[in-house]
Amino acid sequence: MALACQKCINPDCAAEFECSQTLFKCPQCGELLDVVYDWDRVQVPKRLADFAGRWASRDNRLDFSGVWRFRELLDFCADKFKVTIGEGQTILQQNDALARTLGMKPGCLFLQYEGLNPSGSFKDNGMTAAFSHAGFVGAKSSACASTGNTSASMAMYAHSCGMKCTVFIGSGRIAFGKLSQAMDFGGRTIQIAGDFDDCMRQVQDVCSQLNIYLVNSLNPFRLEGQKTIMFRIIEQLGWRVPDWIVVPGGNLGNSSAFGKAFDELKTLGLIDRIPRLAVINATGASTLSDLVNEKKLRWNGGNIDQSIIDAYYDDLTAKNFSPHTCASAIEISRPVNLKKCLRALDICDGVVLAVTDDEIVDAKAQIGAYGLGCEPASAATIAGLKHLLADGTIGKGETVACVLTGHQLKDPNVTVNYHKDKQGPFSNPPIEAPNDLDEIIKIMNS
Ligand code: F0G
Repeated sequence: MALACQKCINPDCAAEFECSQTLFKCPQCGELLDVVYDWDRVQVPKRLADFAGRWASRDNRLDFSGVWRFRELLDFCADKFKVTIGEGQTILQQNDALARTLGMKPGCLFLQYEGLNPSGSFKDNGMTAAFSHAGFVGAKSSACASTGNTSASMAMYAHSCGMKCTVFIGSGRIAFGKLSQAMDFGGRTIQIAGDFDDCMRQVQDVCSQLNIYLVNSLNPFRLEGQKTIMFRIIEQLGWRVPDWIVVPGGNLGNSSAFGKAFDELKTLGLIDRIPRLAVINATGASTLSDLVNEKKLRWNGGNIDQSIIDAYYDDLTAKNFSPHTCASAIEISRPVNLKKCLRALDICDGVVLAVTDDEIVDAKAQIGAYGLGCEPASAATIAGLKHLLADGTIGKGETVACVLTGHQLKDPNVTVNYHKDKQGPFSNPPIEAPNDLDEIIKIMNS
């Protein structure tokens, strides 16, 4: 066997396929696929700290990448196929000022700012891996459905490696900052009269009929790249694991990738404990929270009760439900990685909750006020953290890393409206002043 292969996550199937195949679901049973490794043959460093040596050789483009400098932990293709545009140079900021307002102890709250990626969101971690695989299998054309960030990232990578790309977006459902990127990077944008879930359904059929490479998080290679967000958090904590990871939940790719990352690190003996995971939905798109908290859906060793999921989705269809939240990035009601996320919750003893749009925009302004901006979906983390601290799920002295998934400028409209229209207690609108020095000085001194 090669060092890596694709494997169906359904334990009753567990079919395996070579990495050179382009598949997005198990051809035998239709379930999701994982990339799995023959760890006995992969040359993994003995200690995570050994990866630090890569900084010294960062003139090597793969050592510079915050994804590929961990390449032994996602070793599914040869180096010559690896595409990089310097993704993953992101920071973990200790934010004591925000911690104080949340009643947490100093040194406990960290913000992993994935907005620093080249296209401004965490997606670049996954896209570098997906496009490396696309090159390996010789794909010529790529596509995705998107709430915005996937499209921006795909268009950036597609063009940097000479591939064509098509973006499917829901009409009126994506923030302008993101749409502007996809158009500027030359992606063909198809706006469907529907929501993200409609686009996701269509793009899967389009890709299989036209033999186009799909880069949504159904793609298991993409999720391999997203594992590295966790490696970098551990790296920046001096190779220690935090007590909690808090992440927004949309299509549930990140949460799935994080659970897999920790499971693998533990198996390899590279960490001694697994942090807990909190996945935060918006109340207007709360499928995961509803299924886990109300319907008690669990991973159950891979034997997931499909009838609970079917009944929930049938109900959404009967109500003609379409999700709605100001955090448009996570406005998703049929998350494709639901089952992998259930596995991650199992691995990480995870919790799920949903927060309102008002809580999201207030949290966003608080994050901004302490020096790191982010887009609304990312702020769901701090909004969720407030609840988890209040009900004692997270202790005030526990170490918490919140993943800020996208840049502040991705969705300027939400930010401008919050401040300008004084929508919340943290609004900071411009002060109107006459064109008169005395009046301006009066305002300055007030
Ligand atoms: N945060 C941001 C900024 C996102 O763009 C997304 C997903 C998420 C969180 C949710 O992450 O899907 O891994 O649970 N955006 C996708 C897109 C769906 O099309 O850009 P997830």
